[in-house]
Amino acid sequence: MYNLKLHQQINSILPENEIDITGKDNSFYARFIANAEAIQALYMSLYAHHPRTEEVFLQLLSTITNSYLQRPAALKEKDKAKDEHWFLSNHINGMSLYVDRFCGNLYNLGNKLDYFKKLGVNFLHLMPIFESPVGESDGGYAVSNFRKVDKRFGTLDDLKELQTKMMEENMYLMIDIVLNHTSHRHEWAEKAKEGEKKYQDYYYMYDDRWIPDRLEQTMPDIFPESAPGSFTYVPECGKWAMTVFHHYQWDLNYTNPYVFVEMIDTIFFYANLGVDILRIDAPAFIWKQLGTTCQNLPEAHTLLRLIKQCVMVAAPGVALLGEAIVAPAAIMKYFGTGAYTAKECDVAYNATHMALQWDALATGDTKVMLAAQHEILKKPFGTTWISYTRCHDDIGLGYDDYMIEQTGYNAYEHRRFLKEYYSGNYHGSPARGALFSVNPKTQDARISGSLASLCGLEKALQDNDLQQIDLSIRKILLMQAHSFFIGGIPMLFYGDELGYTNDYSYLNDSGKSYDNRWMHRPLIDWEKNARIDSENSIEYRIFSSTKKLLDIRAKLPVVADHKNLVWLTPHNIHVAGYLRSGGSKKLYCLFNFSDHSAFLTWYAFKEHGKAPESLYDHWQEKEFKVGQDHEYLILDPYSFYLLEAY
Ligand code: GLC
Repeated sequence: MYNLKLHQQINSILPENEIDITGKDNSFYARFIANAEAIQALYMSLYAHHPRTEEVFLQLLSTITNSYLQRPAALKEKDKAKDEHWFLSNHINGMSLYVDRFCGNLYNLGNKLDYFKKLGVNFLHLMPIFESPVGESDGGYAVSNFRKVDKRFGTLDDLKELQTKMMEENMYLMIDIVLNHTSHRHEWAEKAKEGEKKYQDYYYMYDDRWIPDRLEQTMPDIFPESAPGSFTYVPECGKWAMTVFHHYQWDLNYTNPYVFVEMIDTIFFYANLGVDILRIDAPAFIWKQLGTTCQNLPEAHTLLRLIKQCVMVAAPGVALLGEAIVAPAAIMKYFGTGAYTAKECDVAYNATHMALQWDALATGDTKVMLAAQHEILKKPFGTTWISYTRCHDDIGLGYDDYMIEQTGYNAYEHRRFLKEYYSGNYHGSPARGALFSVNPKTQDARISGSLASLCGLEKALQDNDLQQIDLSIRKILLMQAHSFFIGGIPMLFYGDELGYTNDYSYLNDSGKSYDNRWMHRPLIDWEKNARIDSENSIEYRIFSSTKKLLDIRAKLPVVADHKNLVWLTPHNIHVAGYLRSGGSKKLYCLFNFSDHSAFLTWYAFKEHGKAPESLYDHWQEKEFKVGQDHEYLILDPYSFYLLEAY
């Protein structure tokens, strides 16, 4: 709704001599006026009762203006060139990597762009690179300075140079904003320790355990083994600080509007570095309330919506990824609801589907995966997934019990099987992973391990078993193919493109040994990587096939995420099958998750509009004539087809 007073307020803060509202800055001005009412309403719904709410609101409006003014001209041009839904494209293929473990530093990364090009990757997620104390860094997610690149990685100028190079190569960049907490070594935390009230109010700090005890009654432990509890005593000031993750990660207090303004300013700082997608770390946790789990609260969504509205004004080309790893129904809300549908986070991790692929691989059965689809497919048009098989974190089995029970399994036993299977404790399991964050009270646990090790390559190499090596490679490719075509931006995890197995060297580092997620965060050995050029090497086989899959994806517009996916009737429960369609094009994607050949009636291709006469498999580059209903298409163990209909 139009609001004259607000319009006047905006006019009064815009520096006349710097902003040309009828000329070059007209679209910024239009966006600002159009979004101002929403920004104010969202802001006031959180902060109306704060004694200085008006003053901080004006600060927020100025922050938006200044950020726009500081946005480099090249980025403003790029904003203009980007289509509103640019991130739905089938031309974006990503990789997530630790700069230091991948190639040392940011400067070296700039010299590796050809490697990504060769693979078909044009989007990089750099794991946290801002300053973070060694040994207390949670892989960089405990930031002590949001604006200083950690010297381990180089300098801010190195980052800017890398971004420029990437932009010249038409590559996209993603970095994290760690919104929920800072390191206990951040300047704000240090000042809080010294007793400065202003900064103590930036965190949740209590004089005694009265409120912490009550909060802990309902707050689940995130790292029950390595960091039980949600509060840490701070001897310097004699207070208890909220530390939901590790004791060295202090939760920021978003009931304080000054914290919000500080962090939106940081968001703009990253946006103006040329980030295309900003990964908002752990947004589920950003609002706390007594008597709740302090996760996924409505106010957390209000904050995200507020961020989105502000970013749309000053940096419209930047998309937001909400890293919420939550149950299927809860994740949908991160895309926005009601009037904010598709106006909250543009992108979210499809963590449910990722975990369900691992479920199907262990059981050889796709029923649980299918049971979850009615939730997953609710994602609104104009938003997309990060689609992945592995990332730097563990694999959580957080999908709902009813999805498992619907298929006839007992949820507790089913999860126990999966945990045993992937930790290699189940008789005959080829997987080599480990349980992460076992909760002694509930027996809940997540799974660590690299794609290759969980698919059996580590064991097969140890046993020098050629047949098992072949089988593990088939599984790796099945998992990747399934995630590349299901919809969303594929995000490879570095090392998986050539089959890195677990790296156990983390056990010798006291800053890492308490966290077995480091087993799947490899140190890249470029001599090993050079083997991608030696035909018949394992590295070559995995790399060239992964590349082929990414190339196929990039040449088929039907794979862009336009809410154009339907699941095929499960004529065979071992086979996951979905149809991607658009215009007159149809692509049937079929994956056999079992260790036996699977037979699929040709009738499966005749249930969605005009039945095709022939099918061209882009993977094997082979054509099939569609047969009679009583005849079958045969899928070898762990094989897949990408069949275009003709
Ligand atoms: C996110 C990160 C994870 C980190 C946590 C706390 O979930 O992916 O690695 O431990 O946030 O920042």
